[in-house]
Amino acid sequence: MIVIFGSINMDLVARVPRIARPGETVLSRRADSFFGGKGANQAVAAARIGHGEPGRVAMVGAVGNDPFGATCLKNLEDNGIDVQAVRVADDPTGCAFITVDETGENAITVASGANMALRSIDLPDNLLTKASVLVLQMEVDLAASLDAAACARRAGAKVIWNFAPVPPSKERSAMAELLQATDVLVVNEHEALAIAEIVGVPAGDDYLRAATAVAKDFGPTCIVTAGARGAYAISRDGTQIHATARPITPVDTTGAGDTFVGVLANGFAEGLKIGPAMERACAAASLSCLTPGAQAGMPQREALEHYLAQA
Ligand code: RIB
Ligand code: NA
Repeated sequence: MIVIFGSINMDLVARVPRIARPGETVLSRRADSFFGGKGANQAVAAARIGHGEPGRVAMVGAVGNDPFGATCLKNLEDNGIDVQAVRVADDPTGCAFITVDETGENAITVASGANMALRSIDLPDNLLTKASVLVLQMEVDLAASLDAAACARRAGAKVIWNFAPVPPSKERSAMAELLQATDVLVVNEHEALAIAEIVGVPAGDDYLRAATAVAKDFGPTCIVTAGARGAYAISRDGTQIHATARPITPVDTTGAGDTFVGVLANGFAEGLKIGPAMERACAAASLSCLTPGAQAGMPQREALEHYLAQA
């Protein structure tokens, strides 16, 4: 089973000609709501690529006692995700305010709400014993996540940590603990440089150097997602694997990283090696960019196989 310990949000999205600068107002025709939150997105990505079996993916998270919370929960269930460990908290459901420009790039502000009420005791023993992979991100309480990761590791699960978004607190000891609790770290170029800086390994502005140093000094395999350039995995001994991405014209890149992480986790749960797992994850992430919203473009397994089979 793949267990996702993380955030659940409702995304409010406005398409804009360009993303506003501080102090500036930009007009958009309308706002649309989409299901989001890095945790929930990763759960949905993993579930769609799995064999469609209900309960192969479990979500551990928190929503508010409000309409957003109820529809977010229903969406997870509709995707075949086990939600027994999603708690209804006192705070409002997490909400992300997203602007997407004409090139598909975005800017996101997350109001965390209920997500910050998540605690490691919300990860029940029955999920811990079944988990082959635990996936975490940086949108819920860090201490709770560190604790959940440690428990999962002790229970024999592989820990995938998506270091996104970069946290405001740059506390080195917590980041070192995070890296040491992680089997596979997934970052984009910017996050690779940020984590190298926090833990004090020299990298300049070279994200592969950053990933190499982090893997060597702290142990996890570091995967850097590099958009159109695909993804790179660097392991502790310096071995590098590259997965390519085919060129696409993105409509909305929101959730592309989450699609990568969810499909990667599913690949590991199915016993794939890191190279093939990354190939699938890159392809799924590309497909996800072709549809507005974080989750709508995430492929079902058949669509992904079909895309991969095209030369
Ligand atoms: O990674 C994309 C996600 O980040 C969005 O769905 C939004 O909710 C934010 O959490
Ligand atoms: Na999308």
